Formats: sequence, structure tokens, C-alpha cells
Amino acid sequence: MKCTLKSLVSLTLLPLVFGAEYLVGVGKDETTGKKGLGFDPSVIHPQAGDTIAWEFRSGQHSVVQSTFENPCTGNGGINTGVQTVSDSLSVDAPGLPIIRVTVNNTDPLWFFDEAGGLCSKGAVLAVNPSSTQTAAAFKENAAKAPATSPPSTTQGDSSSSIASETSPAPSTTPSNAAQQIGQHVGLALGAFSFLFLGML
Ligand SMILES: *[C@@H]1O[C@H](CO)[C@@H](O)[C@H](O)[C@H]1NC(C)=O
Repeated sequence: MKCTLKSLVSLTLLPLVFGAEYLVGVGKDETTGKKGLGFDPSVIHPQAGDTIAWEFRSGQHSVVQSTFENPCTGNGGINTGVQTVSDSLSVDAPGLPIIRVTVNNTDPLWFFDEAGGLCSKGAVLAVNPSSTQTAAAFKENAAKAPATSPPSTTQGDSSSSIASETSPAPSTTPSNAAQQIGQHVGLALGAFSFLFLGML
């Protein structure tokens, strides 16, 4: 009974320790709410200690960290690996893949959807943009980014060719990355619960 109470208390305190979670749909059009291009929402303002939870809602997508100046080029930072969601699942299906990262400060962070292609068409996510580096300017930089595949002659849908040429990650990478993040979260949870239990 005592143990149950302690666990309950520590579970109740956990959200205070870990801050808010910012759920961002990937492969979901933020204007239509349907499966589509980019991030929903495409701009967020988390605080230090908050979590970004990328929920992959359609097709093949990956979230890759870039820079304000070069929105469509990975900077060697965060990379979720390619996440694949069956076409038969709805945009709000339960159990879609989620990858979380903790925000460590309020410096701007810039991301794009590498596997989904279409970065230059606006598949970008601005985290804590500033008054000089705005989300709109980030999107403009993305629109000017050099194409990652031979430019198509039409303005039409070239997503499939882009997607296949910009998804180099082997199929083992996503689950490994997710697992690693999961392990880190698990370790942190364990450590904090332990601390709280000790204090009670
Ligand atoms: C915050 O720090 C952790 C631990 O160093 C790191 O894994 C994570 O990627 C960082 N978050 C961001 C958004 O850079």
C-alpha cells in the first residue's frame, strides 16, 4: 500500500519534472488536417525541459535537423531515421510511431522532412524562431534551397523521385534511433522516480 502510494505520487510529479510535450504531426498538412506535406504545427515555442514528440502520420518521413541558412541540408544533429506508416492507417490512427526529443534551451532549432522530400515546398519545422530568424524567413530559405534531385521539368508532383533519392538510411536505423531515445527517456524516468522515492 505504501509503495503504491509512493509510486502514485512520483508518477503525479513526473510531468512537473519533464515539462510540457509539444506534439507535432509529421506528414500531416497543418492547413487541411489531412495526410500531406510537412509538419502540423510548423512552428512551436517550447521551453527548456519541454519535449517535442514527432508523431509520424503517413507514408515515409524523417525529421532531420538543419540550419536557418540551409533548411534542406542535414547539419549532423538530430535525425529520427525514416519512419514508415501504412497507407491503410488514418491520419489520427492510434499507435502511430512517435519519436521524442528534449528541448535543452530556447535557442532556435530548425528541422526538415528529409525522407518525405518537398523541403523546398515547405516541409520544415521552426522551433523557437527569433525576431531576426523568423519561421517565414526559414521557409523562404527552404524555397530557395538547391534541389536534392534533378529538377523536374514540371511544377507537378515529383515527391516520389525525391523521396526515393533522399532516404539513404537503412531500415534498421529508425528503430535503433527510436530505441536509443526510448532508453534515454527510460533511464531519466528511472533516475527521477528513484530520487522522488528517496525524498518521500
Ligand atoms: C538535449 O540534450 C540531450 C542530451 O545531450 C540530447 O540527446 C538532445 O538531442 C538535446 N536536444 C536537442 C533539441 O538538441
